[in-house]
Amino acid sequence: MNTIVSRITHTTEDEEIIKIAGEIIKKGGLVAFPTETVYGLGGDALNPDSSRKIYAAKGRPSDNPLIVHICKLEDINRIVSDFPDKAKRLADEFWPGPLTMVLPKSNTVPKETTGGLDTVAVRMPVDPIALSFIEAAGGYVAAPSANLSGKPSPTSSRYVEEDMNGRIDMIIDGGDVEIGLESTIVDMTGETPVLLRPGRITLEMLQEVLGKVDADKTILAGNAAGRPKAPGMKYKHYAPKGELTIVSGEREAVVERMNELAKQGMLKGEKVGIIGTEENIPFYCGDSIKSVGKRDDEVSIAKRLYRILREFDDENVTLIYSEAFSTGGMGQAIMNRLLKAAGHQVLHV
Ligand code: TXA
Ligand code: MG
Repeated sequence: MNTIVSRITHTTEDEEIIKIAGEIIKKGGLVAFPTETVYGLGGDALNPDSSRKIYAAKGRPSDNPLIVHICKLEDINRIVSDFPDKAKRLADEFWPGPLTMVLPKSNTVPKETTGGLDTVAVRMPVDPIALSFIEAAGGYVAAPSANLSGKPSPTSSRYVEEDMNGRIDMIIDGGDVEIGLESTIVDMTGETPVLLRPGRITLEMLQEVLGKVDADKTILAGNAAGRPKAPGMKYKHYAPKGELTIVSGEREAVVERMNELAKQGMLKGEKVGIIGTEENIPFYCGDSIKSVGKRDDEVSIAKRLYRILREFDDENVTLIYSEAFSTGGMGQAIMNRLLKAAGHQVLHV
């Protein structure tokens, strides 16, 4: 398959690109598109064949449900059988934006899209390209992140091309994304909302609107804490090629231990990558040392994390050591992704 790559130029030409992309979706094809979180791999959410194609293009198990993206609040009524008051309040506060809500699905949504579940995950993104694309596509776009299964979610169209060239009909290139980690997912089907996947909308922000919100125990503890509720969370999702270990503790002890481990690795012929905060970068040794941002600037750390993991893959790094981050606010999302990528290998020093 020949994949068209169309770059958004913020001129009137964009309208034509969006129109073509929308038509591809309506005909049952697949288009990757930018959102504020990560790039999505879109298909018609109401067409079971499109969902099947999405799983095939990603190499993803088909019991892992897709998020349905909408562009207008009223459109939700066609795809959910209930839109409870608490969900409406979150929508008022955070939509359009990086929040996904799990709700009971209506019969209009095929089981292929929801991985066989009776619930559907819905999100209204804020990225203007995403919104106009969803509208042109008929209003309901099923989209997982536009990476091959097992790779970090793509934060720029370059990585979408790497993974999806030849596998889908079109890529809309909108440059680098804003946030860099996937949306926050909240299950709204029970009495108390449950945070399934942390993101830019933090647990604290949800609690501010709704009061009580629980958090899935597996977010930071891993599968040892039970069975994760978002089916996708059970797969080892964000794994880099190199073996990643997180080193946690006081600043100086962490730098010292990471340097020891890096030297040992290099002596054995490993190619060692380091993920550190800007403050510590001058003190590290390793083959490839990368700054993930300032320790107190979680937004910038979130934005760089997946890019760094991809760069280590490209550089064929075989061992990676990373600092740990605080787990409050958006730090919860950062540590959730980092712990997954590390298969929960943490060294406390
Ligand atoms: O930011 C995002 O959410 C991006 C962009 C493209 O919108 N999308 C994304 O999709 O991250 P994906 O497929 O990579 O992750 C969706 C997650 C999976 O872990 C899946 O298991 C969970 O959402 N999910 C989807 N439907 C669900 C449902 N009905 N119940 C529970 N979890 C669900
Ligand atoms: Mg994904």
